[in-house]
Amino acid sequence: MGPVMCVVGARPNFMKMAPILRALAAHRPAIPALLVHTGQHYDKDMSDRLFDDLRLPRPDVNLEVGSASHAVQTAEVMRRFEPTLDTHRPSCVLVVGDVNSTLACTLVAVKKGVPVAHVEAGLRSYDRGMPEEINRVLTDQVADRLYTTERSAAANLQREGVADDRVCFVGNVMIDSLLDNRQRATSPSETLRRHGREPALIEDPGGYAVATLHRPSNVDDPAVLAGLLGVLAEVASRLPLVFVLHPRTRANIERHGLDRLLDSSRIATLPPQGYLEMLGLMAKAQIVLTDSGGLQEETTALGVPCLTMRANTERPITVEEGTNTIVGQSREAILDGVDEILAGRGRRGRMPELWDGHAAARIASDLWQWLQAR
Ligand code: UD1
Repeated sequence: MGPVMCVVGARPNFMKMAPILRALAAHRPAIPALLVHTGQHYDKDMSDRLFDDLRLPRPDVNLEVGSASHAVQTAEVMRRFEPTLDTHRPSCVLVVGDVNSTLACTLVAVKKGVPVAHVEAGLRSYDRGMPEEINRVLTDQVADRLYTTERSAAANLQREGVADDRVCFVGNVMIDSLLDNRQRATSPSETLRRHGREPALIEDPGGYAVATLHRPSNVDDPAVLAGLLGVLAEVASRLPLVFVLHPRTRANIERHGLDRLLDSSRIATLPPQGYLEMLGLMAKAQIVLTDSGGLQEETTALGVPCLTMRANTERPITVEEGTNTIVGQSREAILDGVDEILAGRGRRGRMPELWDGHAAARIASDLWQWLQAR
């Protein structure tokens, strides 16, 4: 059997792929795999550190595409991925998540007759203004095997005319990584110390909040970004805030001269963190405020209340069963959410079905059978 060609491109892909690669190797018989990094994320902070933290092997191939417009980035991944497929002749291509690399490699593979398996299929925000939503819908239309993290995903796929027999509910590989690494997480005090910040800031018995923001809808428009930073400053007047800045967000803050909004002794801004630092920061937080998809799931698994600063979520189970509340961009909704949590009425939630640390093993065993049957 040719290798399973596993594709990663951007930060949220790495924590999903690490357990899958281990499960392919642990399967009996072992399933040969090759790791391709498109290079969509390339910084030490956005890429290399995560490889180390997650004990991911070095990629067999790095396409080094880097940053560009969506069109150029997607096209460049496609152009560079095609000869890689020709060289390695994999039995299938396995993609995860919803980033530009996911769609680009899927398109190349299916058109060359190479089957594609998509992990984290069927999630829908029903917001076509999100680039990730376009990537999800198109990837799921053409991929051959669709692995889902929650039951609602199958209903979304059915609505789009996807045949049931392509869909397999396996649970959440991101939570495999979380459960696997929880004991190794870096203590939040240590993380602050590493960045020259005073750990006393977060050692207050009242706890601290963690914030992240990077969605174009929140950070690209200077008025929206300024509004949200202002709200975060108000949050910080209630409890100390650790704000982990994505490169896109930092660049926009600098471009529009918004730094002063974060100029408070109660706010620690940090550069993008490694996996173990971020896990440690979240696990001990009172509140997480975010627009990330991954953090909505991780906070549910950790039992930490999460306020999602978006109009919608593609991960409804985190709201229905987990700790997530959708608060959008409204100042009142965000501060009300914070006050509810500080009053002890934050959501504790429960662990969703099959978020049990064995999703990757289920993928390996299904993939083996599926490839044998082809
Ligand atoms: C991408 C994904 C998004 C995911 C996010 C996590 C798509 C459409 N979006 O968005 O789903 O949640 O990654 O981070 O694929 N940059 C760096 N260093 C890097 C990478 C990027 O400085 O290693 C900067 C560049 O200035 C770049 C900007 O960040 O222009 C945005 O990066 P890009 O990969 O285009 O999209 P993200 O916003 O990170």
